[in-house]
Amino acid sequence: MTIEVPSAVRAKPLEGLGDLIGNCKVVLLAGPGGVGKTSSAAAIAVGAALSGVRTCVVTIDPAKRLADALGIEHIGNDPVEIEAVGAGKLWAVMLDADATFDELVVRYAKSEEQAGRILSNRVYQNLTRNLSGVQEYMAMEKLFELHNDPRFELLVVDTPPSANALDFLDAPRRLISFLDNRVFRLIMRPGPALLRPVSFAARAVLKTISRVVGAEVVDEAVAFFQDFEGMEDGFRERAQSVQALLHEDATAFVMVSAPRGDTVSEALSFGEKLSGFGFGIAGIISNRHTPAFATGSRSTSLEQALEARDRDALENNLARMELLRSAEDAELSRLLTELEPPRLARVPLLEGDIASIEDLAQMARSLL
Ligand SMILES: Nc1ncnc2c1ncn2[C@@H]1O[C@H](COP(=O)(O)OP(=O)(O)OP(=O)(O)O)[C@@H](O)[C@H]1O
Ligand SMILES: [Mg+2]
Repeated sequence: MTIEVPSAVRAKPLEGLGDLIGNCKVVLLAGPGGVGKTSSAAAIAVGAALSGVRTCVVTIDPAKRLADALGIEHIGNDPVEIEAVGAGKLWAVMLDADATFDELVVRYAKSEEQAGRILSNRVYQNLTRNLSGVQEYMAMEKLFELHNDPRFELLVVDTPPSANALDFLDAPRRLISFLDNRVFRLIMRPGPALLRPVSFAARAVLKTISRVVGAEVVDEAVAFFQDFEGMEDGFRERAQSVQALLHEDATAFVMVSAPRGDTVSEALSFGEKLSGFGFGIAGIISNRHTPAFATGSRSTSLEQALEARDRDALENNLARMELLRSAEDAELSRLLTELEPPRLARVPLLEGDIASIEDLAQMARSLL
């Protein structure tokens, strides 16, 4: 059986993502779970650093494995410089949303006391950890800060699997609309006169809430909102800049996928959602392709040494591998036909885990 590869690799994409390295300031990798986003981000960063670009790889993946591969003990919220990446320079940072929010509060607070009160407020602490979207927004916020850091010419950003990545990318817009929300503005607006129209309803709500969570918590919530007053403009402007960064020409989205039916389907629906958010796809990484085996010249001595039975088994295996490869090619074609990416990098299945700078450099050769 042969699987037909559609002729539709219409406008043939450029091979490799190499030109993004010189032309972009931010390369974001997104895609389904487990396809190799974190490894690809680290590999692109290693490749860029080796070619002399001052690069920072930004990961959200707390996996120790990447830190190990990069040869460092721990990746934290502050970029650490990685030793021994040729002559280039490479940093790594792992986004820590809580630390980033705290830094923002300190930046926008009018006084140290105001910052101190907010940081020690339990409602604030709870909000930063549990309110949907806050963690995602903070990751984007940190990205903006790194983008403005003159040490780095290129940021290569790893994102969480598809669904969560959309939360990340949409977080600035959602924060802006939250800050512009009528109810939020009413709570934040100072002066008892303005609060009066809602005070009756507010009192009823607060009473109910106090019964459930305790009056103490409500007091802390009110204190938090009072303390936060005047800071929302800073947050809004910042969120607008973060959102603008995602849409800049020098920001590129790269979709990571694997040449398997279910993964390609997920990548396609993710691609659709990305374009719904106004993000184009600058390239595709198709990871873990079955490597090709040389079939041309055979060693006659080896052939003679093999029993006929073994030879049949080997040829059978080879035929199966070729079938697998053409099935993978067909899946890749589906992705290329639907998304028409301008660039494509095919990465073979490498032997063993990606566990060192050398492994990452090897992967980078297929990527760039
Ligand atoms: N081309 C490859 N060859 C061999 N192993 C690979 C290849 N690419 C990735 N891997 C391995 O696959 C595993 C998953 O890779 P990785 O953590 O980069 O995926 P991910 O997309 O970031 O996953 P998640 O969605 O969970 O964050 C790792 O163990 C990695 O070493
Ligand atoms: Mg990952």
